[in-house]
Amino acid sequence: METIETDRLRFRPWRESDAEDLFRWASDPDIGERAGWPPHQTIDDSLAVIRTIFSNDHTWALELKQSGHVIGCMGYYPYGESNIEIGEHDAEVGYWIAKPWWNQGLCTEALHAMIDYCFDEKEFDTLWADCFVDNPASGRVMEKCGFRDTGRTNLLSRLYHSQSRPVKIYSCQR
Ligand SMILES: CC(C)(COP(=O)(O)OP(=O)(O)OC[C@H]1O[C@@H](n2cnc3c(N)ncnc32)[C@H](O)[C@@H]1OP(=O)(O)O)[C@@H](O)C(=O)NCCC(=O)NCCS
Repeated sequence: METIETDRLRFRPWRESDAEDLFRWASDPDIGERAGWPPHQTIDDSLAVIRTIFSNDHTWALELKQSGHVIGCMGYYPYGESNIEIGEHDAEVGYWIAKPWWNQGLCTEALHAMIDYCFDEKEFDTLWADCFVDNPASGRVMEKCGFRDTGRTNLLSRLYHSQSRPVKIYSCQR
């Protein structure tokens, strides 16, 4: 798995030793319920997520360089794993940032780097992203990074609590 760096962040693989940090952030319902997964109930939940969902070459821990602690997650879902329908040579990006670091430009900084990696290294044709209609902060990050609102919404997403909450679909091309 490749390491990606920005001014303030290091993208690196998740480690089992991150379980405590992950639990601290992912037990907050304001993270999971906006991102589409259930809040973690115990540190063991977080450890299990690190061992399964995060154990691949396309999901990174976002480490704050200044402290060495994990404060978020970013990655892409390749064809077959995404929450929405995408093309065979496309990917969908996803992310969250722990609440104490919201609105400091960190997700925007990370997403710019993720986009460069996806187009320059992985050579995807189109990147996709989606967010619940009631999560404007995420849509704003997408727009700041060059994603366009496709005008489409989807009610058939695999996301947690998505039955009555449509997701807005965004796309980005080079
Ligand atoms: C969405 C999220 C990743 C944004 O992370 P962040 O590091 O705070 O993002 P940034 O600071 O780079 O940018 C946030 C932007 O949203 C804007 N914003 C914040 N709250 C907003 C709101 N309620 N309505 C509209 N815009 C809002 C900020 O003003 C900022 O835009 P600006 O730079 O033009 O002022 C973070 O809030 C988060 O993790 N939320 C919970 C999980 C989640 O929603 N994940 C995404 C799932 S699609």
